[in-house]
Amino acid sequence: MAQVKFYVVGALVFAALALIIGLVASSLKKLATDEVGIAYDTIQKDLGTTVEKEGLHTGPPGFEFIKFPSVFRTLDFNKLMCLNKDGVTITLDVTYQYKARPTKLRQIIMDFRDFEGYKKVLRYSGQSALHESCSYFNTSQFQAERGLFQQKVKEKISQRYDGLNCDIKGLQVSNIARPGDYETAIRSKERAREDIQVAENERPRQLTEAETGKRKAATTAQIIMQKATSDAEILKNRAIAEADAIKTQYVKEAEAYKNIVGSGPDSLNFSPEGFISYMGVRVIAAAKNPVFIGLSSPAKTSYP
Ligand SMILES: *[C@@H]1O[C@H](CO)[C@@H](O)[C@H](O)[C@H]1NC(C)=O
Repeated sequence: MAQVKFYVVGALVFAALALIIGLVASSLKKLATDEVGIAYDTIQKDLGTTVEKEGLHTGPPGFEFIKFPSVFRTLDFNKLMCLNKDGVTITLDVTYQYKARPTKLRQIIMDFRDFEGYKKVLRYSGQSALHESCSYFNTSQFQAERGLFQQKVKEKISQRYDGLNCDIKGLQVSNIARPGDYETAIRSKERAREDIQVAENERPRQLTEAETGKRKAATTAQIIMQKATSDAEILKNRAIAEADAIKTQYVKEAEAYKNIVGSGPDSLNFSPEGFISYMGVRVIAAAKNPVFIGLSSPAKTSYP
């Protein structure tokens, strides 16, 4: 009987010891050197108020630490695509380090539950800041002002992370790439610009050439004009001279006929028929070819 009692007591003591060991064990939690944490009572659902650092910590049975890194961690964006001010797609590699502010850890845990939840928000928020930064820069600025762009990215991420109680450092933007099509377009634009430059340099020479050509044409026109004018003048004068000559000839002939036909002192006293005959003889005399004509000869063919 006494032996049975002894066993029961032994078992009870053993159970009590096991319970105590279990309770002590569940009340002891460790934080590593690169960790900070706040105790969370999983039974009472109660979050502690102090941020604990590395080491062994006691707490109510069944508590655990919600742990965060106490050092900077790296966040990478690989081949992140964003649209710039011109609506051109830019591909970026960005990396930076971040760390939750230890003094705000309780607030962070209240807002984001744990480090995993927090990290997810940091990534989305960083991506959004990158997209915003891209939209401030046009394509030529991405080419020429990379330093300014990196500064802008840092400013935008810092702004957003400030609201999330997070610090950043060591931000690097690398590998800024524009789409292949765009590169091709840029190159042909450059070529076109050079062609335009060449054409512009050519312009004065061609203008001079055209100017010279124009002057030459004007001179030629003037020469032609002057020649035409003087030709016309010559023709006119010649016509006037001819007209005068003809007029003079007719006046003389008229005089002569008056003498032939009329009854003045020098008159030949031709009858009309005689005159016609006389004219006929003159025509025939002037003819180069033989003339055959039936015409009664004048009554008198010889006269003084
Ligand atoms: C890009 O932005 C700069 C500075 O605002 C401006 O001078 C330049 O003309 C812009 N380029 C184009 C192609 O819009």
